[in-house]
Amino acid sequence: MSRQQPLVLIMAAGLGTRMKSDTPKVLHKVAGRPLLHWVVTSAKAAGAGRVVAILGHKHEVVKAALDASFGAGAVDVALQTEQRGTGHAVQCALPAIANEPDDRIVVILTGDAPLIASERIAELTAAAAASPAGMALLSTIPPRPMPYGRLVREGGKLQKIVEHSDATEEQRKILDTNAGFYAIKLGHLRKDLAALRADNAKGELYLTDLVAHAYERGGATSIDAPFTEVAGINDRVDLAGVEVEARRRINEAWMRAGVTMTDPASTFIDADVGPLGKDVWIAANVAIRGKTTVGDGVRIDLGCVLTDVTVAADTNIKPYSILTETAVGSKVQMGPFSHCRPGSRIDDDVHLGNFVETKKTHMMAGSKANHLAYLGDASVGQKANIGAGTITCNYDGVGKYQTTIEAGAFIGSDSQLVAPVTVGRDSYVGAGTTVTKDVPRGSLAITRVKQVNVEGWADRFREAQAKKRQQKKPEEQ
Ligand code: UD1
Ligand code: MG
Repeated sequence: MSRQQPLVLIMAAGLGTRMKSDTPKVLHKVAGRPLLHWVVTSAKAAGAGRVVAILGHKHEVVKAALDASFGAGAVDVALQTEQRGTGHAVQCALPAIANEPDDRIVVILTGDAPLIASERIAELTAAAAASPAGMALLSTIPPRPMPYGRLVREGGKLQKIVEHSDATEEQRKILDTNAGFYAIKLGHLRKDLAALRADNAKGELYLTDLVAHAYERGGATSIDAPFTEVAGINDRVDLAGVEVEARRRINEAWMRAGVTMTDPASTFIDADVGPLGKDVWIAANVAIRGKTTVGDGVRIDLGCVLTDVTVAADTNIKPYSILTETAVGSKVQMGPFSHCRPGSRIDDDVHLGNFVETKKTHMMAGSKANHLAYLGDASVGQKANIGAGTITCNYDGVGKYQTTIEAGAFIGSDSQLVAPVTVGRDSYVGAGTTVTKDVPRGSLAITRVKQVNVEGWADRFREAQAKKRQQKKPEEQ
């Protein structure tokens, strides 16, 4: 590990009481990504050689989430079993970095402030290295009064941080607050943490007390950061505020990369989505979630929701289509109101129309299902045509069974295909047929009752009705 790479600690052990949630605070999501994952991602982008997450409350759940996203053990974990404050949290991480040299810069991030930029972490690292006190922190001016630590200056130097609950009325008037991000030489950190005392309103060990020690060495450097970048999340109102800011950033980045959005304020694109190709066009009220990727020239019209989907170039997804865990080819025409459930594969040039539902179904190139169909556990061969109202009966109450419709087959409207069953290549299934046996290649399957025309029946029926009415007594009418 090179000396320039910061060693990053992320404080994430707190209870998050103000969230009023069963989910640990740092696993609440912004733009589909847990708060802690944003911070880890940013730390890694800043070139962090090693990232240690300090966990406590529900640490097993948080560790499992980290391992699932970044790979087992990619983020080290230090445990703080009892939450005795931010200073105590960092004390708990010291054994994990015991082998690191004293002149190494340690960056301390807070797990509940997800929008910290990697450039800012790099800036903070460089400022600590350059500072005679060997310490730097981020300051911010919140847009409204917040219970943040106030930065007290003396002779132009940072003298100390006074926490909101310990501050006098006069100190609370200070606009400059502590954003909760620090960089410090490990030697100072080791020494100063050992000197912390819990003599404050909360009876906790405050990491912020390190600033007073740095003052004795000439004063920590403060770097001003916009509030939107460093805003910490303590409750769900904060969470919603950060979500709006995250969405604004994500959408702006995609628009600058060549994506059109007719209404960015109602366009919801998760942080892990991408790439979105050039000339992608997205209408209002669209949500693109998970690990979705979208090719060049794709149109996604009003109200569509895509979750873990891949879409190849030039496909047109019309309004209110819902796709989940589906691979869509190029030049597909889909919707309005198509529903592709997990395991769907929709190949090039397929047409999928309104109220067509697919699940674990492979629609091969050029096949069509234009109206009202359920296609589950099915494979539909190239250029096959599925008539309106077709249903694959894939479930018998216990098991699921496969329907195979071979290339060029034509399924007449309102047919049921009772799986397991195969409709052979280029065959026809007559409208209204219930297919229970395999259909050999090139044949017609038809099961409906033969049509009988009873001539004159309607006239006779009406006459009989009229007579009945006449025979009724007037008071019965
Ligand atoms: C902290 C700062 C405050 C700053 C604010 C910015 C302290 C004493 N105060 O206050 O100056 O203005 O952040 O957002 O540091 N945590 C632990 N273990 C603990 C306590 C906290 O890991 O024992 C973690 C939390 O999970 C959280 C972070 O540290 O991710 C900050 O804790 P929080 O309780 O939110 O501190 P604030 O009151 O916001
Ligand atoms: Mg906080």
